[in-house]
Amino acid sequence: MMKKIVFVCLGNICRSPMAEAIMKKLLKEQKLEMIFQVDSMATSFEEVGNPIYPPAREKLKERGILAFTHQAKVFKKENYDEYDYIIGMEESNIYNLIRIVDADQEHKIRKLLGHHDIKDPWYTRDFETTYQEIEYGCRQLLEELIKREGE
Ligand code: 4NP
Repeated sequence: MMKKIVFVCLGNICRSPMAEAIMKKLLKEQKLEMIFQVDSMATSFEEVGNPIYPPAREKLKERGILAFTHQAKVFKKENYDEYDYIIGMEESNIYNLIRIVDADQEHKIRKLLGHHDIKDPWYTRDFETTYQEIEYGCRQLLEELIKREGE
């Protein structure tokens, strides 16, 4: 049974597309691309239609993720039913997601790192830290999902 994951940040041009690309890489390495489908979205309309932000793309390239096409889009209320795991990057993403969906009745919404906010590299300019935190979070999440979905 296919499971669907969506990563969500503010603009969908830095953190959530990085998470999408990194998770897709991990899934490919573990030959799990047929089991998990991955997407990413924004909570704001600011960057709709835009590609991944060049410094974020560069960071992915540095780590061997060369081909990643992307167009920023916004998470809508209707998307709630479509996804099994809705993963924000920081507390404000969770707040905005709850505002969009009204209530997280199926407990699908959570942060990538439970007790840590992945800060916006648009402001910090530290794309290396962003990459490391997202990769760590994705590895942990995937490990958990494999355990859970394998039951
Ligand atoms: P992201 O970074 O949420 O990691 O994609 C941002 C990019 C753009 C804006 C905010 C955050 N913006 O307001 O334009």
